[in-house]
Amino acid sequence: MAPYTIRKYQDQDREVVMDMFIKGLLTHVPSAFFHLLKQPRSILLLLSVPGALFLGSGSLLLSLLALPGLLVFLWMAVRYPFNWYVDHALHTDMKDIRKSYLSDKGSCFWVAESEGQVVGTVCVCPVQQASRRQKCLELFHLSVSPEYRGQGIAQTLTQTVLQFAQDQGYDVVLVNALCFNYPAQRVYEKMGFWKSHEAFDSLKWRVIAIPFFYYEYSVPSSL
Ligand SMILES: CC(C)(COP(=O)(O)OP(=O)(O)OC[C@H]1O[C@@H](n2cnc3c(N)ncnc32)[C@H](O)[C@@H]1OP(=O)(O)O)[C@@H](O)C(=O)NCCC(=O)NCCS
Repeated sequence: MAPYTIRKYQDQDREVVMDMFIKGLLTHVPSAFFHLLKQPRSILLLLSVPGALFLGSGSLLLSLLALPGLLVFLWMAVRYPFNWYVDHALHTDMKDIRKSYLSDKGSCFWVAESEGQVVGTVCVCPVQQASRRQKCLELFHLSVSPEYRGQGIAQTLTQTVLQFAQDQGYDVVLVNALCFNYPAQRVYEKMGFWKSHEAFDSLKWRVIAIPFFYYEYSVPSSL
């Protein structure tokens, strides 16, 4: 296991950081696809459309040919919210990482570096929730290069966030993870987060039946 250090983002990290962000997110598309395939609504679609075609046309070939078309349709449907998320981030917070995360002392962006290479990322920014009076920080873009996973780098990055939250006087750290992202869930739970609820982040995720798990961490008082 190569040693690594955690430091703040620098402008020369941008290309690697963006690559890690995009690949880290899109890596979930196959799991999301299989998750969707297991849903009753998908099974119903995959059975009913070929069935209706067979009953309507009497052609077994036609009904069998419909299957790959439906699978492609479901694959595209699953990809859509992931592509949307990447595109949205490229036009918002990830457009100018320094401006988004390093121009205010309440937010930050860190990278993990090993042998001169950026191998992990995480960032935080303050969030306001009308229902809460506490000072909340949200964790985003936790990602580790595939070759460096399983070495505790994500846990160290998360620990950096938790220390920052304490130093800056935050009360709560929030984060969410896809329902099937077991490594991320394991990291958050191991670091002391607890699952507050699960919900669909928006209609895009509801359509493909993928809820998010929402986690909270209560920052211990430094007094
Ligand atoms: C999630 C991610 C950041 C974890 O990075 P990492 O450096 O490998 O994480 P760590 O090594 O610190 O810890 C991973 C933990 O998950 C566990 N784990 C790995 N695969 C697992 C699985 N399929 N099911 C359950 N736990 C799993 C590991 O054993 C380890 O726990 P342990 O320390 O108790 O053994 C990394 O997988 C990643 O970049 N994924 C793509 C981007 C992503 O999903 N980011 C999270 C956004 S919410």
